[in-house]
Amino acid sequence: MVEIFDYDLVIIGSGLAGLRASIEAAKTGNGKLKIAIIAKNQLMRPHSISAEGGSAAVLYTDEGDSFDLHAYDTVKGSDYLCDQDVVEYFVRQAPLDILELEHWGIPWARRDDGRVAQRPFGGHSYPRATFAADRTGFYEVHGLYDTMLKYENIDKFHEQFVYDFIIEDNKFKGVTAFDIPTGEIRIFKARAGIVATGGLGRLFGYTTYSHLVTGDGLAIALRRGMRLKDIEFVQFHPTGLVPSGILITEGVRGDGGILRNAKGERFMEKYAPTKKDLAPRDIVSRSMMTEILEGKGFKGPNGLDYLLLDFSAIGAEKIKEKLSQVREIGNHYVGLDPVDSPLPVRPSAHYTMGGIDVTRTGFTGVTGLWAAGEAACLSIHGSNRLGANSTSECVVFGKIAGEDSAKWLLSDISTINLSEGERSHAENFVADAYKDKGDNDPYEIKRVLWSTMDKDAYVFRNERDLTEGLKIIKGLIDRSGKISISEKGNVYNQNLIASLEMKNLVELAEVVVNSALERRESRGSHFRTDYPKRDDENYLKHTIAQRANGGLQITYRPVTLTKWKPEARVY
Ligand code: FUM
Repeated sequence: MVEIFDYDLVIIGSGLAGLRASIEAAKTGNGKLKIAIIAKNQLMRPHSISAEGGSAAVLYTDEGDSFDLHAYDTVKGSDYLCDQDVVEYFVRQAPLDILELEHWGIPWARRDDGRVAQRPFGGHSYPRATFAADRTGFYEVHGLYDTMLKYENIDKFHEQFVYDFIIEDNKFKGVTAFDIPTGEIRIFKARAGIVATGGLGRLFGYTTYSHLVTGDGLAIALRRGMRLKDIEFVQFHPTGLVPSGILITEGVRGDGGILRNAKGERFMEKYAPTKKDLAPRDIVSRSMMTEILEGKGFKGPNGLDYLLLDFSAIGAEKIKEKLSQVREIGNHYVGLDPVDSPLPVRPSAHYTMGGIDVTRTGFTGVTGLWAAGEAACLSIHGSNRLGANSTSECVVFGKIAGEDSAKWLLSDISTINLSEGERSHAENFVADAYKDKGDNDPYEIKRVLWSTMDKDAYVFRNERDLTEGLKIIKGLIDRSGKISISEKGNVYNQNLIASLEMKNLVELAEVVVNSALERRESRGSHFRTDYPKRDDENYLKHTIAQRANGGLQITYRPVTLTKWKPEARVY
């Protein structure tokens, strides 16, 4: 039995981008549009709440910051792979949206003069990370959620596992899902949709991502023939807490924290003499791994050798006021209080620079379908994102996708008719997913995937490792079709969810590793030890991956340059 809901707009994902989109769509629709927001978790528990350090925006042109400076920092940080027209647009919009969040109740930290405070962040040449202690994402999600509640025409659906988009003749018609608490199958029929399902970070075992982030929207898009862009670029955040990988915010280094090797040396002075610990993340992560590989790290569990993040220059008072969550994490997860002890850290998979290929308004090319946030690739971040630019991106482009889709809906007079085939596809998919097709354990496949990605597609990559990794991943894809679901019940069937997520992950891993193999240069987060130089002549272009003729097709598209020509990245 399939339950069918009928909406104008369905938003998949309730992180910052999804929430912001829902508000703008409701506002633009002015009561005329029926909107659903659906999420795999409870709506108030998206991965966005884990964002800690801040949201970048130019607030103080009167004190020396400027749009051009923010844009230039972002372009240089991206290793020139961003589209500069989109970046220029982004930096102008961000301050407006940050101020709007202020009006919606986000408790931004304040300076002594009462104005909004901003902290330094890596690769930014001005302190422009607007923050709320070290819980920025948490407060942003809550502020947006509360604002969304003002709109009566947004229906909220918690704990829905979306497993497909309904697309016919390149026209979006809705999504199919099952209700996790009951296992009931649902079709959310809709004339328009916004994919805001986040990145693909759980491809890696050692990661800052929550277990929620399994690339579901990206995997479905790929299966449905949509394009993924620049997917080989995965950001490794320098300071994941060893051994869990949990994020220790860059705000620590922004506020004065220092990375040290086992000899006690402040090694970043050597790699980035000017910016030091606040160089962009790709450079800091590479420097850390160089130190570790040269034997200047500490021995960690399961090969997780690490360095130290020293808080002593920050001081107890400031740690308690501005970094209270980091303190809690240190105490809770490794029994160390950063007030009197450094924390063990190493680079941890943190962000997906690539995503669904979209235009500046988030349009995917499928009529009626938009994407926003980390699921989308607008090409703001290129091959390496600057810290604090992603939460700003979510609100700026979530808003635009919400507005654009609502305007389109107001002018669209089509109706959605579902074919019998779509209904039975929805039903059969789940029935089939329960069936045993072999004796492979989905959790074991996930573990092999994690160790493969952690080893072969981490900070340093090369042809031999990537080829070896790809071979293993292909084997996992084959095994992912031959699994057994040991739990057969309908209610909160975690085993079923794990198997579907695992399938999404292994299929995406193939695209990440293939795209990485094809890019025979080093740029931003993608460093090939066998091609250690950036190659603008051959690779100043976006990677486009798409399923075609039963295989994976990789093509390229030029990067848009406006003001800034590629130059050496010296920090
Ligand atoms: O370090 C952090 O607080 C992370 C911020 C970001 O990824 O933008």
